[in-house]
Amino acid sequence: MNFNLNENKDVVVLLGAGSMGTAIVKRIGVGKTIFIGDISKKNLEERAKELRTGGYIVETQKVDALDRNSVEEFAKKASELGKVKYFIDTAGASPSQASPEHIINLDLIATAEAIDIFANYIAEGGAGLIISSQTGYMMNFTPEVEKELALTPTDKLKDIEFLKNDAIVNSGTAYITAKRANHLRVRTAAATTWGQKHARINTISPGIIVTPLAYDEFNSAGNTYQDMIASSPARRVGTSEEIARAAEFLLSDESSFITGTDLLIDGGVIASINSGRYKLGIR
Ligand SMILES: NC(=O)c1ccc[n+]([C@@H]2O[C@H](COP(=O)([O-])OP(=O)(O)OC[C@H]3O[C@@H](n4cnc5c(N)ncnc54)[C@H](O)[C@@H]3O)[C@@H](O)[C@H]2O)c1
Repeated sequence: MNFNLNENKDVVVLLGAGSMGTAIVKRIGVGKTIFIGDISKKNLEERAKELRTGGYIVETQKVDALDRNSVEEFAKKASELGKVKYFIDTAGASPSQASPEHIINLDLIATAEAIDIFANYIAEGGAGLIISSQTGYMMNFTPEVEKELALTPTDKLKDIEFLKNDAIVNSGTAYITAKRANHLRVRTAAATTWGQKHARINTISPGIIVTPLAYDEFNSAGNTYQDMIASSPARRVGTSEEIARAAEFLLSDESSFITGTDLLIDGGVIASINSGRYKLGIR
């Protein structure tokens, strides 16, 4: 049976079929074609089933965000499905899952590449959203490093000395650097490639969001997360749904004057750190 007989449906593209991304497309994907890409066939199948049986129209494609050609093919296929009105990138690896090199390659360089590629496919008036992290606020970078992270052409990013020497000392530092770079690359894209298309792009920086994959990490990782939660104003973790509510706003016309910015959604963890209530080891 054809569940949606309308033609020319707008396309919502999701790169990374994780928990937060799925929550976001559920809020904005009604009546549209949701096109999901992920490296894991299993994740794709599970998410597609969850969405289809919920009444959404879904197409999937296996994509490796680390492979530029693969992302280019994904974007091209998206544009063949209809007008690409929304692009959401949640493909990432956390410090407990990956080496520093993998985090720099995926969370930083591949994300920068996806921002570049989708600038060519996003529709006029479309909107993009990159999922960064509260960790992007956990280190102070020099203005010179920030400038390099923001403005270096994507194919030259891997040559930045800071990334080759300082950012890869451990997965935590690599992650913090990558997530800060997400803010900076989006700011630049909003003013240049995406702006020229009259499309907006922003980041969201989630705090501790419990998802099925992150559950064990948060539950078993000593006292760090517990202390962070205890010293935060919210005194609790967040949910994918709370991120999706804000994402819906940032992707919709309700936020038509907002571009190139980051929305920190962390229950006040960074406020706690900056006010000295919580002492972060790496500061
Ligand atoms: N969960 C949290 O507390 C939290 C907090 C802040 C930021 N984040 C960030 O949010 C984003 C999404 O997080 P999530 O919790 O929904 O994670 P998730 O693990 O549920 O989703 C990430 C998805 O990316 C996919 N992926 C990994 N490598 C890929 C590749 N090379 N190509 C294509 N897809 C790939 C995975 O298969 C997975 O489906 C990540 O960037 C993460 O760093 C998460």
